[in-house]
Amino acid sequence: MADLDPYAAYSRESLVAMLRWQLEAGVTEALSPEPYDRFSAAAAAPAATTAGQELPPAYAPTGDSPLAQARRHKGRIAAPPPPATADAKPVNLADLYQIKDLDGLRAAVDAFEGSSLKRYATNTVFGDGAAGARIMCVGEAPGAEEDRQGVPFVGPSGKLLDRMLAAIGFARSDVYIANTLYWRPPGNRTPTPEERAQCLPFLMRQIELVGPRAIITLGGPAAQTLLNEKTGITRLRGKWFDFQTRPGLAGGMELPLLPTFHPAFLLRQPAQKREAWQDLRAVRDKLAAQP
Ligand code: URA
Repeated sequence: MADLDPYAAYSRESLVAMLRWQLEAGVTEALSPEPYDRFSAAAAAPAATTAGQELPPAYAPTGDSPLAQARRHKGRIAAPPPPATADAKPVNLADLYQIKDLDGLRAAVDAFEGSSLKRYATNTVFGDGAAGARIMCVGEAPGAEEDRQGVPFVGPSGKLLDRMLAAIGFARSDVYIANTLYWRPPGNRTPTPEERAQCLPFLMRQIELVGPRAIITLGGPAAQTLLNEKTGITRLRGKWFDFQTRPGLAGGMELPLLPTFHPAFLLRQPAQKREAWQDLRAVRDKLAAQP
């Protein structure tokens, strides 16, 4: 059996070092129990450009690795697909405002090719809940479990979020939950400002179509994205903001927004739950005071 094991030749230390290297590179999923050598596969694949045409013979694979081919042809090998944003059309706000329901918006997000994150994600994580929810929670970005299921906040921080909402008398089904990004950044890295900006017009329209009475942002990045702020969450949390979905434009929605800590942070720092609890009570009182 041992001679069938592709790793039998490596010491335990080498295997641990390889695993650590992969983790540091952002690998969080084991897709197959068997190793897959992409370098050999790429070298054996029929030559084609991204447009699907045959490559000129000088660029055709010769059985050696892509790196060796690149050296032999001074870097001129078949280019990888261009970044998703290269020729993608920017979001047209007039088209977005024509979308009248969440299903239509979900279809528009699914069809959107302007975010390079989409290429690396397993699923689009659009949102969870129904139009008319009184509270909308907005988190940062889908994590590994959310990417797998296509639903926001279903991992460990989602379980805590459900308990936080229950503490003020709201079931998860009473609330609409979304993120500032629809696709998981590879390895859960922090999304760039450009990546946030690409999704923001959709999120603004999503808020309009849900029509909540108040927004709770979870964690610093969500608050900073929606409020266009650089201030950290410790100073933003617990304060009410007048939020507008179309700042400087006519026809949007204006509603109260309260930033609080992200449940993932509270899992690491349970001592901060007291403040989060105060924030949620403030939301409950705000809604109770609304006509
Ligand atoms: N963290 C987030 O910000 N969003 C999710 O959906 C899950 C974890």
